[in-house]
Amino acid sequence: MTVTVVVGMQWGDEAKGKLVDILAKDYDYIVRFNGGNNAGHTIKVGDKKFGLHLIPSGIFHEDKIKVIANGVIIDPEVLLNEINKVESAGYSLKNLFISNRAHIILPWHKDLDGVSVAKSIGTTKRGIGPTYADKASRNTAVRIVDLFDESKLKKHLENISNLKLKTIAIYGKTSEFNTEEIFNNLINFRKQIENKVKNTSYLLNDAINSGGSVLLEGAQGSLLDIDHGTFPYVTSSNVISGAACTGTGIPPNKIDKIIGITKAYTTRVGTGPFPTELENEEGELLRKQGNEFGTTTGRPRRCGWLDLVVLKYTCMLNGVTELVVTKIDVLNGFEEIKVCTHYEIYGKKIDRFISSGLEKVKPIYKSFKGWKELNEKDWEEIKKSKKLPKEMEEYLNFISKELNVKINTLSFGPERDQTLFL
Ligand code: GDP
Ligand code: IMO
Ligand code: MG
Repeated sequence: MTVTVVVGMQWGDEAKGKLVDILAKDYDYIVRFNGGNNAGHTIKVGDKKFGLHLIPSGIFHEDKIKVIANGVIIDPEVLLNEINKVESAGYSLKNLFISNRAHIILPWHKDLDGVSVAKSIGTTKRGIGPTYADKASRNTAVRIVDLFDESKLKKHLENISNLKLKTIAIYGKTSEFNTEEIFNNLINFRKQIENKVKNTSYLLNDAINSGGSVLLEGAQGSLLDIDHGTFPYVTSSNVISGAACTGTGIPPNKIDKIIGITKAYTTRVGTGPFPTELENEEGELLRKQGNEFGTTTGRPRRCGWLDLVVLKYTCMLNGVTELVVTKIDVLNGFEEIKVCTHYEIYGKKIDRFISSGLEKVKPIYKSFKGWKELNEKDWEEIKKSKKLPKEMEEYLNFISKELNVKINTLSFGPERDQTLFL
């Protein structure tokens, strides 16, 4: 029995999806515990490629049980489309279960996302913030379980939609909501998923108590965590490994392993400070070689060097027990590779992440020599011999030593077999 959490160590898109697909074969349950369809997790097997937003990245393992747990927020239309897409490709989702406590994204949430004239966060505009806000507000929220009491739901929707129209008007916008249609859509949604709806906290704890193994798939990256990230340029939920407990009902003492995923460099989508961002040709090259365009929104991702101040902080927050470094192939051809070890702010050198004023820090770098370009054949050799090019080994050893965590997996391409277990 093992319970493992997979968590992003940066600002998201660290290739959590790829890793979950690889690890899934050793687990009975694959569980998404936070976020909504702001997430985009890509899994690729042969010529099959999926960008998943809600369903856990275990779809290629049909016999495994997949769970969308209580911490996730669900856009009904997106979930139905995704189920349809996966099933049309020939993968059964009869083993998919959905928490009856998960909250629902409604049309007004999407209209309200990003209308605020305050700081522009550059959200994915999927209604994430407004839905989690309603979850916290409580009396304007709708959960999956509420879809089972139709008369109560109808009244509730009428009340909320009136309130939301007024809220949207405050921002100088107008919207129209056909409450009847929203209600009918929700009932239709419920009918399509009702055999999958469960109290997943009991499902998962029963599984663990009878010896089952569980893989918990995080969305976003630790620096997008609402408490610990680069607030206010964050998402609206907790993201770090602790959220795997609140987001599923699995207690902390049942967690055995916490796998942190980091790219060999850094990316960020949306607004907010990014100390090691490269707004130059090197950044362009990372974007091009790494194909750094958002899985969800298609936006170009901002790219920069690896930041150890970030990783030390996120290793601490998550209690990372092992580290996976992805997209090492993207550094191919760089003569010099830099790693940020400290920040300088007001003439002082610091190695701890700060809670505000991050846009004022200047990164201090250590330079590494790049390695010769590696092709497929070179990687085959490396996989056989487990011997990395000297320069790459120096780069990775430095990272591992600074973070005091073992790097046990290296990813050098989107495919399953482009993975090296060290
Ligand atoms: P996630 O949100 O953390 O699951 O990551 P995304 O799927 O949003 O972004 C990662 C992207 O990198 C996807 O397009 C993957 O197919 C791709 N990818 C994953 N691992 C590697 C790798 O080692 N090298 C390269 N070049 N691409 C990778
Ligand atoms: P995965 O799981 C990268 C970012 C958005 C924006 C901020 C707030 O694929 O790693 P939101 O819509 O959540 O209110 O937007 O968070 N963001 C992500 N960036 N990967 C993600 O998920 C993200 N989910 C949210 O770009 O800056
Ligand atoms: Mg992603």
